[in-house]
Amino acid sequence: MRNYLIAGNWKMNQNTAETAAFFSALANEITEVPQGVDVLVCPTFTSLFAALEGANTIKGVHIGAQNMHFENAGAYTGEINADMLNEIGITYVIIGHSERRQYFNETDETVNKKTKKALEKGLVPVLCVGELLSERKADKHFDIVKEQLVKGLEAISADDAGKVVIAYEPVWAIGTGETATPQQAQEMHAYIREVLTEVYNASVAASMQLLYGGSMNPKNAEELLNCKDVDGGLIGGASLKADTFSAMIKTAGNLKSN
Ligand code: PGA
Repeated sequence: MRNYLIAGNWKMNQNTAETAAFFSALANEITEVPQGVDVLVCPTFTSLFAALEGANTIKGVHIGAQNMHFENAGAYTGEINADMLNEIGITYVIIGHSERRQYFNETDETVNKKTKKALEKGLVPVLCVGELLSERKADKHFDIVKEQLVKGLEAISADDAGKVVIAYEPVWAIGTGETATPQQAQEMHAYIREVLTEVYNASVAASMQLLYGGSMNPKNAEELLNCKDVDGGLIGGASLKADTFSAMIKTAGNLKSN
C-alpha cells in the first residue's frame, strides 16, 4: 500500500525568518504526521537549515531541495551538489520542475543525469513531468509525458526506479488557479503507471508514488487525492501557509483512515 506524499514546493519564497515562523505555525496544527502520510517541504537553499530545525519539532516531516547539479563537484559557479545536500540532512530533491525546464534550459537529458546522481547519492528524486497547454490542445499530452518519463529514467534500474517519486504537473495548471479535473489527473496517472509497467514491471510501477501538481489547494485536495493513482501532491502556492498546508496533510490522513 502506497503512502500519500504531501510535498510543498516553496520555489523562490520564504526567507529563514519566514521558514521558522511557518514551522512554528505548522507545529501548532500538527505534532505528528498522520499514519500512511509522508510530508515533505522543499524550501530555497538558504532556508534549508531553518527548515531542518523547524521540522525537528514535528515527527515525520522531511526536507528536500528544489534542484541540484549532476556533477560531483568542481567549477560550476552557482551550483550545489548532492553531497552538500546529504551533509546537512536533506533526503529529497525535486528534479526537472517545469520552471527549471522553461527558464533554466533543463532538458530530459539533464533531468536524467540529475536523477541518476540523486539515486547514486541516496537522495529521493521527485522527477517532474507534464505537458504545456498547446501540447494538450494538440492531443499530444500522453506522448509528451511518456517521452519525459522514458528519457528521464533512461538507464535507471528497476530497483532504483522504485525509489523515484514522479510528479505529474500539467504546466497549464501551475500557479494559474486552474486545476486538472480529477478525471484528467487520474487518466494521466494511470497512463504513467502503464508506462512504468512497460519500462520496468507491474510491481515497481505499483510501488511508486505518483504526485499531482498544479494549483492543488485545501478545496480540491480531497477529490484529487481520492483518485486511485494519485498518491499525493506537489504543492506550490498553497504550501506556503501552515494552515492551508496542514489542511491538505489532514485530508490525506483522513482518507487513509477511512
Ligand atoms: P502551484 O505550484 O501549486 O502553485 O500551482 C505547483 C508546482 O509548481 O509545483
